[in-house]
Amino acid sequence: MATSKSLAVFWFLFLAVFREAALKADARAFFVFGDSLVDNGNNNFLTTTARADNVPYGIDYPTKRPTGRFSNGLNIPDLISEAIGSEATLPYLSPNLTGDKLLVGANFASAGVGILNDTGNQFFNIIRIGAQMQYLEQYKQRVRFVTSKYACCGQGPYNGIGLCTPRSNLCPNRDIYAFWDPFHPSERANRFIVKNILAGSADYISPMNLSTIMVLDAAENV
Ligand SMILES: *[C@@H]1O[C@H](CO)[C@@H](O)[C@H](O)[C@H]1NC(C)=O
Ligand SMILES: *[C@@H]1O[C@H](CO)[C@@H](O)[C@H](O)[C@H]1NC(C)=O
Ligand SMILES: *[C@@H]1O[C@H](CO)[C@@H](O)[C@H](O)[C@H]1NC(C)=O
Repeated sequence: MATSKSLAVFWFLFLAVFREAALKADARAFFVFGDSLVDNGNNNFLTTTARADNVPYGIDYPTKRPTGRFSNGLNIPDLISEAIGSEATLPYLSPNLTGDKLLVGANFASAGVGILNDTGNQFFNIIRIGAQMQYLEQYKQRVRFVTSKYACCGQGPYNGIGLCTPRSNLCPNRDIYAFWDPFHPSERANRFIVKNILAGSADYISPMNLSTIMVLDAAENV
């Protein structure tokens, strides 16, 4: 039966060590793609019949409530997160997936999908694999946004008030923030800026980069 096939065959997960060109960082994020074996609640946010938000799903989950996981308790990604010492990823469609939670990773899985477009056809409004990949792209944009929107050290919304003081909030991983305090780049961002000053194309530094100036200067001094 198509249902059991799509429920059983397909899931994959990956752990990515994020190394963004602009914000080079060692933040480890966990991404989950697939179907009901690994969906942890995306389908709750969709109008579909392929969902596990009713009892007795979740009967052994810490909250004893259904969460959208197709399990009595924890599912495969939960246990992998546990094994690598991370908190569980949130469903990509959850409104709670914001701020620092984005840095944990995201779960894009949707019960009822298969690799091929025709598996899962019996369910409407599920996130097919192409859409899961598009969501990954959106996620990457959002992560960049988080780390350029929040300052590492500060207070108030976005750590955007006042300067950095011993009493401010301090982010644990300064390398993934573009802003150190509300007004100043982090060292990582400074390195990126200097890289462009030294060797950037004319889009970044005009009329010429510092490497070119040094070459010209050396030539003049011969
Ligand atoms: C979001 O988080 C809050 C606080 O932990 C929780 O009560 C709420 O159920 C969550 N919302 C969803 C849609 O998971
Ligand atoms: C699935 O459907 C999308 C959009 O309709 C299409 O772009 C894609 O090529 C299809 N993939 C397969 C494997 O048929
Ligand atoms: C530095 O600028 C020069 C002139 O714009 C350009 O040709 C060169 O490619 C730049 N350096 C790098 C590493 O891009």
